[in-house]
Amino acid sequence: MNIIIRRNKGDVSIAAAEHIAALIRKKPAAVLGLATGATPLGTYRDLIQMHRDGLDFSRVITFNLDEYIGYRMNLSLPYSKDQSYARFMYEEFFRHINIQESNIHIPDGRADSPEEECRKYEALISKAGGIDLQLLGIGRTGHWAFNEPGTPLDSRTHIQGLSKETLDDNYRLFFHNSGIARQDMPVCSITMGVGTILEARALLMIATGKRKASVISAALEGEITNRVTASAIQLFTGPATVLLDRGAASALKNR
Ligand code: PGA
Repeated sequence: MNIIIRRNKGDVSIAAAEHIAALIRKKPAAVLGLATGATPLGTYRDLIQMHRDGLDFSRVITFNLDEYIGYRMNLSLPYSKDQSYARFMYEEFFRHINIQESNIHIPDGRADSPEEECRKYEALISKAGGIDLQLLGIGRTGHWAFNEPGTPLDSRTHIQGLSKETLDDNYRLFFHNSGIARQDMPVCSITMGVGTILEARALLMIATGKRKASVISAALEGEITNRVTASAIQLFTGPATVLLDRGAASALKNR
């Protein structure tokens, strides 16, 4: 595991974007695993700028980590009212680059059978030849994607209930101006499992800010446990890069 500590959030974002861009330049048809949340926003903005400067996404294939159950992109709603992760990805990244729509994959939170959707998603990842590079954040509960504490470390794409901390964070960051009340937030998701994530050929995990310091220390230096599903990074045998700002790195004992 290669842990890189940068001065601030902006430096983490650009370093993550450069890491992803380097892969796309080497392998134009790269399969990227993508993440939502506040942390990767800067990376997406930097990648959009790189696209304006010539980075080509026309052959890139993407798989997002997760989606809320009951949610699917609805472009007839204003962005603030459509809280699906698909809409987040569209607004913050996809509509600004030259990716082909048919190469974008996000679990369908409104599938008739969410269980079947989970199986289909795993099959699509396999059909694409697996994920070359998975981008990951980390939640305050130590989650990778929506793999909340207690999720088995060999889990596959599955239906997952969300913890109170995760709902609080996502309400504060995203839902607060949607008109959706806190108690009406989606409480379930479809998420890639930890086992699915560990099958990627490379991982790129990013975290910024002091609020992530204790969970980063637990994930990178603590026990490997499903109480902190991101601690599974210690089991990963391929190349794993962790990009942190000084705040997120501040509790690392070996920094
Ligand atoms: P955040 O979420 O980037 O909004 O902090 C990270 C995560 O939940 O993985």
